[in-house]
Amino acid sequence: MEKLVTKRSVKFFNGKEIPLEMHKVRIVQSLNLVPVERRVEAIREAGFNTFLLGTKDIFLDMLTDSGTNAMSDTQISSMFVADDAYAGSQSFVKFQKSVLDVFGKKMVLPVHQGRAAENIISQTFVKKGTFIPMNYHFTTTLAHIQLNGGTVVELFTPEAMKIKSTHPFKGNIDIKRLEELIVKHGSENIPFIRMEASTNLIGGQPFSMKNLEEVRAVADKYKIIIILDASLIGENAYFIKKREEEYLHKTIAEILKKMCDLSDIVYFSGRKVSSSRGGGICTNSKELFNKMKDLVPLYEGFLTYGGISIREIEAMAVGLYETREEDVVGQSPSFIDYAVKELDKLGLPVIMPGGALGCHVEAQKFIPHIPQSEYPAGALVAAFFIVSGIRGMERGTLSSIRDENGNDIYADLELMRLAFPRRVFTLSQVEYLIDRLNWLFHNKDLIGGLRFVEEPPVLRFFTGRLEPIGDWPEKLMAKFRADFGDSL
Ligand code: F0G
Repeated sequence: MEKLVTKRSVKFFNGKEIPLEMHKVRIVQSLNLVPVERRVEAIREAGFNTFLLGTKDIFLDMLTDSGTNAMSDTQISSMFVADDAYAGSQSFVKFQKSVLDVFGKKMVLPVHQGRAAENIISQTFVKKGTFIPMNYHFTTTLAHIQLNGGTVVELFTPEAMKIKSTHPFKGNIDIKRLEELIVKHGSENIPFIRMEASTNLIGGQPFSMKNLEEVRAVADKYKIIIILDASLIGENAYFIKKREEEYLHKTIAEILKKMCDLSDIVYFSGRKVSSSRGGGICTNSKELFNKMKDLVPLYEGFLTYGGISIREIEAMAVGLYETREEDVVGQSPSFIDYAVKELDKLGLPVIMPGGALGCHVEAQKFIPHIPQSEYPAGALVAAFFIVSGIRGMERGTLSSIRDENGNDIYADLELMRLAFPRRVFTLSQVEYLIDRLNWLFHNKDLIGGLRFVEEPPVLRFFTGRLEPIGDWPEKLMAKFRADFGDSL
């Protein structure tokens, strides 16, 4: 029988529904769980910024899925047959074919990662005084558009900001507002409409195919191109299959192709979509391709390697094909779904429904006593590291920017993101996460705020350093010891 819908979770005799791993683990890396005393020391040394922690102090690294998804045996073996050449590599020919087969685009520019694609796209299309509508921004996208004098306009729907919702597509763009924006500023001032698959900063929430079709109709009416950020397209396609009735019996391959057919330019971070490293920009328009092409040798490398090793080009090619498999793109969402449902049952404020990339906890609901000026999401991430050894990422005001007067622009949502890289963690590790987060929720009054001691002007969250307001980390540690005895 044709394999149409794979059930990725099974009902147990005891009534529980558990997501099942559709792979086996053949290479492992050992982990370390250092005592809570060392974790407090480590986060202090890291300036309360989890980007600055060393992995020797980390138990579960849930910072990101970028470059950390587990690779398949097929991907790794492909790396050994790489055709190393500065120009004309046959590995690049394989990559071109995979882009054509998976995304349906004939021309591709390789780049070293997703933000490099954003640099090239922004330099090519964004001019001073232009507006770029999108369902939501990503940090590096915003930075590149602003560097080139453009203004990002986010046109998410009201549903997107509801923490608990049953809406299946919280990543949709508001079509009415999109058309109003175009009429207001004139299509000549809108170089492109950007759609981001599985909208990262609002909890990995997908958009529907219907929404993308509506964007296409508006784009055609006003003759504006659509640029699709496909870094998390596999998971978005999985959600379309699961949640959009019409696509229940379509394959992930068909859905991916259709999403790309509706877009003029598709770019991606290979660190995410193809579980490798690298990235790319692809299109079927010779005109658009030629506009961007000359920037690749300038910023990246020659047109057949784009600044990454040829081995990674091979891994990216194979990884793109694997993105068409439901068991690959559905693994992380099904684990996230399990985690958020369990956390919701315990009364914790997690983004619902579960999306792609990670489990997202809303800090303003978790620790309402900490004002946005004291970076609640950053404080929650640091506190959670102390009590669990799990490294999450702040996705709130710390990851935002300041206005021209030097005031923080407060984020719409103050999120702690706990990333679930594909096929990396087991369910017992997810149970550990749930348990420690639940304990922290019961002790949330012990968490305090943070303030900057060193703040870089651009993308400050990567390397900025902070300090706690008061001695709350030590108090949290003391309570942990009192409750858990000598347990790590
Ligand atoms: N677009 C999206 C939607 C992303 O999630 C990312 C990266 C990029 C572009 C940039 O790609 O890192 O290869 O340069 N997201 C990572 C994350 C960093 O942790 O969510 P990159």
